[in-house]
Order: sequence, then C-alpha cells, then structure tokens
Amino acid sequence: MTPEEKAPSGASDRKVTTQSLRRMKERGEPISALTAYDFLMAELLDQAGVDVILVGDSAAMTVQGLDTTVSVTMEQMLYHAEVVARAAERALVVADLPFMSYQVNPDEALHNAGRMIKETHVEAVKLEGGERMCPAVEHIVEVGIPVMGHLGLTPQSIHKFGTYQVRARDPEEADQIRRDARALQDAGVFAIVLEKIPAKLAAEISKDLDVPTIGIGAGGGCDGQILVTHDMLGLYTRFHPRFVRRYEKLDELMRSAFERYVADVRSRDFPSEDESY
Ligand code: KIV
Repeated sequence: MTPEEKAPSGASDRKVTTQSLRRMKERGEPISALTAYDFLMAELLDQAGVDVILVGDSAAMTVQGLDTTVSVTMEQMLYHAEVVARAAERALVVADLPFMSYQVNPDEALHNAGRMIKETHVEAVKLEGGERMCPAVEHIVEVGIPVMGHLGLTPQSIHKFGTYQVRARDPEEADQIRRDARALQDAGVFAIVLEKIPAKLAAEISKDLDVPTIGIGAGGGCDGQILVTHDMLGLYTRFHPRFVRRYEKLDELMRSAFERYVADVRSRDFPSEDESY
C-alpha cells in the first residue's frame, strides 16, 4: 500500500504517538479520533488516516446493546482492545479501562492498566474522573503506561448524574472541571477527552493546558475531536445527540441489503448457477 493510499485524508503516514499528538497541538493541527471495537473497523479507520482509535467502553452500547457503559467487563475490553490493536498500523490505539477496574485503589488501577497494555498491545489507556483519580494516574504513568483522561459527561457516572445532559453549565461545576483538567495534566496524562460541556469552557481549558484536549460535544475550540463511529455512520440510532454529525445512514443501507437477501433466498433467486459449484 502506498503512503497516499494509506492516508487519503492528507495525514502524514508516520506512526502516531503520544508525543506526536503533543506536537500537533503545538502546531495547531486538529487531531481526529474515532472508536473501534473490531478488526475490520479499526483497519478502515487506520487506512482513512484517523490519528487516534479509541477502543471505547461504548462497546457496551454499540456492540452489546446495553443502556449504559457501566457493565462492560475487563475481559470484554481486553478482547476488543486486542483485535483493534492488531489492525492499526498508523493510529495511536487507546483502550478504555472499564468501570470499577481502576477506582478501588491505585494498585488495582496499575494492575489492570498493565494487563491492558501487555495482553492487547494497545499503546495507552483511558480512564474517567478528575482530582480523585490523580493518584491512580500517577501510579500508572510512573511505570511508563500513557494515560488519557476524560472529564465532563463521564458515562461511567451516569447513575450519579441521572441524565446525559450537558455538564458544567453552572459555575461551580465548571470550576471543578478546570481544576480537574489541571490536576490530570500535573499527574501526567498525555491528553484529555472533554465530553458534552459548553464550548466556551472547553476552549478555555484547551488554551490553558499543554496537553491536547479531544472534544465530543465540546465545540470547535478543542485540540481534536472524537465521535463514536457507530453514531457517525448512522448505525446506532437509538438517540441522536446534536453533537453527532451523521456522515452516512448505514442502518438503512444494511437493512435494505438484508431484506433483499432474505427475498432472494425465499424466491430461490439466490444462489444462481454462477454462485454455485
Ligand atoms: O467509550 C467511548 O466511546 C468514549 C468516547 C465517547 C470518548 O469514551
């Protein structure tokens, strides 16, 4: 595969690292990120020039059909992370640590981050939370495992929030997020996802930090953007937050293909002689 084929979006074909993300921020080059949970999707994202592939715990919703990300297990995330990491050549691959795999204490967080890196070959882990998670972040980063933070609407806390609405509209929560972002940077994260917070706040935080911010529903002032791939393809359609730009309606295309297949089998149009031996 030629470099042009490998990165049709104009992205350089060089391997993306945590360091190169930092340089992209310094140069003002937007970082593109999407999620993947399987080999084929990861290969397509990589070939399209996506900079960061996140093996998100959104797999709970997009793959398993659950209502929240809370129940996905460490073993399930290890499985998804391993198949995605095997497909990606250029993109930086980051895997979510699932709920309760890192919150109990820093040693358990380190143990599970270590499993994620050693058993799957992803290059970094992501965890949710601010100041309270900093001891765990420091512990993981100390041994050489890069950590991505995640602030704002942190889906693993959905039962505390009670709603998927925008966070940090009130000044106290906005101040807390500013403090959390600083604390995470000081603890050693290489990037921070900012989810569903006001664009003005996200832009301020992005300006304040040296590490890149990756926004989802956080406006154009972030250093990069991430979407759940199943959302932007129009495959996951249970709800449509306004921050999701749907690039295709794959649900319609796929449903139509399946219906035509069923009709062809029923009418004995499939298989034809050409499709038989
Ligand atoms: O799990 C996930 O897909 C995520 C993104 C929404 C950032 O955390």
